[in-house]
Amino acid sequence: MIFDRVKPLDAILATAEKKGLHRSLGAFQLTMLGIGAVIGTGIFVLTSEAAQKAGPGMLISFIIAGFVCGVAALCYSELASMVPVSGSAYTYTYAVNGELLAWMVGWALILEYAVGASAVAVGWSNFVVGRLSAAGVHIPAALTNADSLMAHISVAFGAPVTADLQRAMDVGGYINVFAIIIVAFVTWLLVIGTTESARVNAILVAVKIAALTAFIALTLPVLNSSHFGSPAEPFMPTGMTGVLGAAASIFFAYVGFDAVSTAAEETKNPQRNVPIGLIGSLGICTIFYLLVASGAIGAIGAQPVMDAAGHVLSPGTPELAGRCANIIASGAIEPLVCSKEALVHVLTVVHQPFVGWLVGLAAVIALPSVVLMMMFGQTRVFFTMARDGLLPEKLASVHTKFRTPHVVTIVTGFAAAFAAAFLPVGKLADYSNSGTLFAFFMVAVSVMVLRKRDPNRARPFKTPAVWIIAPLSMIGCIGLYLSLPLTAILVLPGWGAIGLLIYFLYSRSRSYVGRGIIDVVDDPAMQPETSKPL
Ligand code: ALA
Repeated sequence: MIFDRVKPLDAILATAEKKGLHRSLGAFQLTMLGIGAVIGTGIFVLTSEAAQKAGPGMLISFIIAGFVCGVAALCYSELASMVPVSGSAYTYTYAVNGELLAWMVGWALILEYAVGASAVAVGWSNFVVGRLSAAGVHIPAALTNADSLMAHISVAFGAPVTADLQRAMDVGGYINVFAIIIVAFVTWLLVIGTTESARVNAILVAVKIAALTAFIALTLPVLNSSHFGSPAEPFMPTGMTGVLGAAASIFFAYVGFDAVSTAAEETKNPQRNVPIGLIGSLGICTIFYLLVASGAIGAIGAQPVMDAAGHVLSPGTPELAGRCANIIASGAIEPLVCSKEALVHVLTVVHQPFVGWLVGLAAVIALPSVVLMMMFGQTRVFFTMARDGLLPEKLASVHTKFRTPHVVTIVTGFAAAFAAAFLPVGKLADYSNSGTLFAFFMVAVSVMVLRKRDPNRARPFKTPAVWIIAPLSMIGCIGLYLSLPLTAILVLPGWGAIGLLIYFLYSRSRSYVGRGIIDVVDDPAMQPETSKPL
């Protein structure tokens, strides 16, 4: 049997007891933690990608994605409160559905966290380049994106050289240097043992909320209702397919709330506070996202850009980049969907360049913390898998001076920097989403399996109406996954196949559980209290 290797829940819980973290977090801190991890590249940058897919109908996309995250969050919380150890969805699955599925979830979480960190790094790079440009420092396009490289690759693979593709080859770049720089910086911070303190998080949350509030306050009063639906500007120019496609991509804007679940073990009265923290942070983010998206649509319109034949171009493609370059060269106002700094662009068009500049600065200041949280999550999952014998022990080695898992951190840094150097933010977000949706799906399955198999175990937090919420979460995850672009849909099975190969060739025979060794004691170096908060 290949599903027989289950890690005993009691052994996992013994680890948690050993750790004995102080229960100090209340509902307010949890909500701040959630907002800090959630607001990032999604709303600051991907709003334009969502508009390209759905037009003004992206408002519905934000609601759908927020709802799927809400039900997933309720499932996450039950397991997080029962199994409060590092490794998140990977550990829960190990205890409930066995080693093989746990491996697959851990493998998928690499997509969520490492590729997600790359996406946020690319979003950050857009803002840095924009702010430098506003200050008169023009960075050559060759160093700010890889549009030209991708266009050349497309042509090499047989794509016809259209005017848009030619334009991308002419004016696009080859590598995203700033994205590499921020990943390298965050890697260094993690190696020397830095995590984010509650105070820094609170400051950054305030910066982000202030930026989004300013945006809303300046755009809603100049809103033009014809942008929300008129013969020239339909509300859903790409129909329901476009709305679902945008929901699948903008899902990225909500990812990160699992930070609240993983803090369950440090929470006072988790039964009350964890759901408040989760639903509170998701609810607040959803309201902000809807207001920001309404402001952007109402201020300058959000119609998708078409190619010469009248087909909507896919975001993140060199064709769209070339088309946008052609529109801008013609002297027309840059459409929302073309902007790499969506919110700054909108404010500039509505004659608020100074506030736009400040909003861009807020993104430059706040986004690195989202990269840090994602890379930290990645190192924790990697570390836990290595400690279970499924990855080489060397990866789990801890630095003698800094007491951090420096090897996994550096490996993660290299992988994230490589992806960030060459891929556009929207594609990275979509790839990250495919992994996240798989992990959320498995969490929903695990909650139900555990309710049946072990109904009497203590559950500090119970998912309300679990037999409705968990299936809804599963359906939502499948629906969004199938609405991703084809390449992102294919990434998951492709990545999974590589994972399975590694599992059967390497990990299965070395697994501690498989060899009868139950070693689930976390290393003290991985505990937050031994880290140096910023
Ligand atoms: N939700 C996070 C962001 O949008 C990952 O950057």
